Amino acid sequence: MKSLKKRIQSVEKEAHNAFKKCTTAQAVEEKRIHYLGRKGVFTDLMSQLKAAPLEQKRELGPLLNTLKKSLQEAYEKKNNSFSAQTDRDTFDVTAYLPNQTYGSLHILTHIQEELNSIFTSMGYTVADGPEVETEYYNFTTLNIEQDHPARDSHDTFWLSNPERLLRTHTSTIQARVMEKTGPPLAIFSPGRVYRNEALDASHNFLFHQAEGLFVDKNVSVSHLLATAKTFLQAFFQTDELNIRVRPGYFPFVEPGLEIDASCPFCKDGCSVCKYTTWIELLGAGLVHPNVLRYGGIDPDEFSGFAFGFGIERLAMVKYGINDIRLFQNNQLQFLTQF
Ligand code: FA5
Repeated sequence: MKSLKKRIQSVEKEAHNAFKKCTTAQAVEEKRIHYLGRKGVFTDLMSQLKAAPLEQKRELGPLLNTLKKSLQEAYEKKNNSFSAQTDRDTFDVTAYLPNQTYGSLHILTHIQEELNSIFTSMGYTVADGPEVETEYYNFTTLNIEQDHPARDSHDTFWLSNPERLLRTHTSTIQARVMEKTGPPLAIFSPGRVYRNEALDASHNFLFHQAEGLFVDKNVSVSHLLATAKTFLQAFFQTDELNIRVRPGYFPFVEPGLEIDASCPFCKDGCSVCKYTTWIELLGAGLVHPNVLRYGGIDPDEFSGFAFGFGIERLAMVKYGINDIRLFQNNQLQFLTQF
């Protein structure tokens, strides 16, 4: 028993010295295997203890436990000193750092935020509506009855669920808001819309529109025109922008108007305005009495105006973008410009 006890004591000293003397991580690993490995010194002492009588086990068992802890501490201390040193040695402050790419908001998100901010500063409330719509809100409440030819011109994506469709315009918000809020109201509503159309540089099957709706007593076309002009001047950041009005047909407004803006980029014609000095931007008009009725508003007491526009088309004019498909095909070269 004496010799095993002595051996335990001498192994502790010997191992501590051995770890201390190591000058490389490799040497530390070799000592670990020698003392703590499966066939190492410690395992050998344990098997000697197993063969010893019970009384010896009682005295030497705790000593062996302490030895194991002590060997492990000696190993870890030395090993950590090497790994800390390795970290310091490999940190190279002059190392080449590849260009970092940062995420950013999509141009359409920027524009929608800009639009929201212009209209909220004019006292409008931003409203949202569902993209999966009913025939009722997409057509009927907008004075487009069952057999109205305008239904065909909308190239609708019908869903298998009867009477459901992907909304073809943001005008769907009109009756929804009128029913919920009642007059007076000033609503701005941007969002995604869908049309089953052939794609080209200015037509997509999924695009964004925004709708404006204002209802109060004695609302007239002059209120609409002042609003349109103020909005377009703010969006194109110029006080010199003018508007002009042409007749337009939308079943949900009477009279219906197309509002053009004077080209914000030239006075005599350029490629943006196709050398006409005017750009077609908004569909608009005074809310049709039938639409007010569908929204639960008495047209003898209240009147209103509504306008709608394509957000991509507006952005294309502002930033000189020549293909609407660029908004959706995830080209970083395009997206990182904004
Ligand atoms: C409408 O959708 C009406 N709801 C707008 C309106 C609202 C009129 C309120 C009167 C009162 P229109 O179908 O013209 O109108 O579409 C409006 C705008 O959406 C167009 O001027 C155009 O800018 C954009 N747009 C239409 N189809 C596409 C398409 N396939 N891809 C991209 N933009 C489109």
